[in-house]
Amino acid sequence: MKKISIFSLSLLLIIFSCKPAKERLPAADRPTGLITQQAMVVSAHPLASEAGKQILARGGNAIDAAIATQFALAVVFPYAGNIGGGGFMVIRQADGTTATLDFREKAPLAAHRDMYLDKKGEVIENLSTLGHLAVGVPGSVDGMVRAHKKYGTLPWADLLAPAIELAAKGFPLTEREAAGLNNRAEIFAKTNTVVPRQFIKEWQAGDTLVQTELAATLQRISEQGRDGFYKGETARLLLEEMQRGGGIITQEDLDAYEAKWRAALTGNYRGYKIITMPPPSSGGIALLQLLAMVEPYALAEIGHNTADYAHLLVEAERRAYADRAEYLGDMDYYNVPVKQLLDRSYLLERMQSFDPQHATPSDSISHGRIMVESEQTTHFSIVDTQGNAVAVTTTLNGAFGSKVVVGGAGFFLNNEMDDFSIKPGFPNMFGLIGGEANAIEPGKRMLSSMTPTIVEKNGKLFFVTGTPGGATIITSVFQSVLNVIDFGMGAQEAVNAKRFHHQWKPDMIMMETGTFDEATQAELKARGHKLFDRGKIGRVDAILVLPDSTLEGGADPRGDDAAAGF
Ligand code: DON
Repeated sequence: MKKISIFSLSLLLIIFSCKPAKERLPAADRPTGLITQQAMVVSAHPLASEAGKQILARGGNAIDAAIATQFALAVVFPYAGNIGGGGFMVIRQADGTTATLDFREKAPLAAHRDMYLDKKGEVIENLSTLGHLAVGVPGSVDGMVRAHKKYGTLPWADLLAPAIELAAKGFPLTEREAAGLNNRAEIFAKTNTVVPRQFIKEWQAGDTLVQTELAATLQRISEQGRDGFYKGETARLLLEEMQRGGGIITQEDLDAYEAKWRAALTGNYRGYKIITMPPPSSGGIALLQLLAMVEPYALAEIGHNTADYAHLLVEAERRAYADRAEYLGDMDYYNVPVKQLLDRSYLLERMQSFDPQHATPSDSISHGRIMVESEQTTHFSIVDTQGNAVAVTTTLNGAFGSKVVVGGAGFFLNNEMDDFSIKPGFPNMFGLIGGEANAIEPGKRMLSSMTPTIVEKNGKLFFVTGTPGGATIITSVFQSVLNVIDFGMGAQEAVNAKRFHHQWKPDMIMMETGTFDEATQAELKARGHKLFDRGKIGRVDAILVLPDSTLEGGADPRGDDAAAGF
């Protein structure tokens, strides 16, 4: 395809173009996901999607289905699905009203700013990522209870039932899951005071994983709601676990935990309305910044994943992530200048230093602890028969979180404390840095990149999206939105498309294998970019409303993800 320089395009100033890129695949060759007429769930695991679908088929709404899917994922996808972690839910009801639920973990009341530093002020290795001190106060159960109270239509116990059955009777492990458990047998044994035998064995694909203790814990949640987790037997087991392992979470922390309803963050991109997550996620603000920074350019003309395209997106990403490091944190504790950060003239000004031919170097710092692992958070998207939509991203942070399983209660605890800036300028496990805005304080929520997002077109539901991937979440969601809006891709095509990522520091473009051909890579290097092949980036699970009002699911082939619907 003929190259059009970004420079000449930028001279044309604001060009809104939605023409498909010239190299688009012919219709017959385009990957297409599951298409259904009425309702759909797309999640990281076929059994979790099925659990949500059954709820939808029984007349439950998207929130009912989200609750069932969340609990099912805690059983069939212990890698990231959870009751011992937290997350965010973005809701768009059929009538257009929106809401978000923040069930992010909080720092325990005994936490303090320097808790991961030694006497010399140096970071103690692994303390914020592995074991009991890494754990934030879990938010998932309180979140689901609150979501149900406000929007649920089916009985609470019905929503827990599929998860309880999957835990009690067991389910067959996929090859990926078997390997995920096998790879960590040693670290599970080492990190836990009570060895979690149910997870440790030479697993093979097809083996049945039974989780009896987890089934009992879920049963308590089913019978007692919030108290089934934050009080009584489950709380007792959790607090005993903390004491045995040197953790600091107390009953007071469990009592104080509260998921919060927050007004959705909304913005506009080429006439589409973007509905996304406010702080303590950094994702919504960064996504809106990125969209505003690239909106003046005719992306479809520039061409998908061309050097000009990558260069433009990367330069916008570099700027957004620099803002993230400085300004973003829990708004309940830190005054995040949201309005200023989203101000169009501010963002255009940020892009004035954009040089179409040369990378703007980020100041050099050490490369940080970049995780080149697969994706350990999980996202699911749901649309119900009424047209209500829910996007949920939920996490334990790292794979199996802190690796701590609550003895006798059978669930993994998160290692979300590492999402705080444990020392100014010190990179977290995703290489992200921060400072004052995201410093540890008792009861504060750690900054997140999770970006569950819903897009509306002409006042109607258009796209539901989100992904795991730590720092790369924001840029993966960004590219999924550009893929459907600027490039006219379907859901599956948009999800499959190769992704790349830049986060300001470390100063490099991370890319999936095969994203750029050799000529494109050479061109990017000539402009001053460093390239780093990360294998895979993200696991986007999305739903697109097609022009005939049917739903197309985009389940990410990078994982075991699956769409289910009717
Ligand atoms: O909230 C966050 O941004 C991180 N705890 C998400 C972690 C994640 O996506 C792990 N997957 N790679």
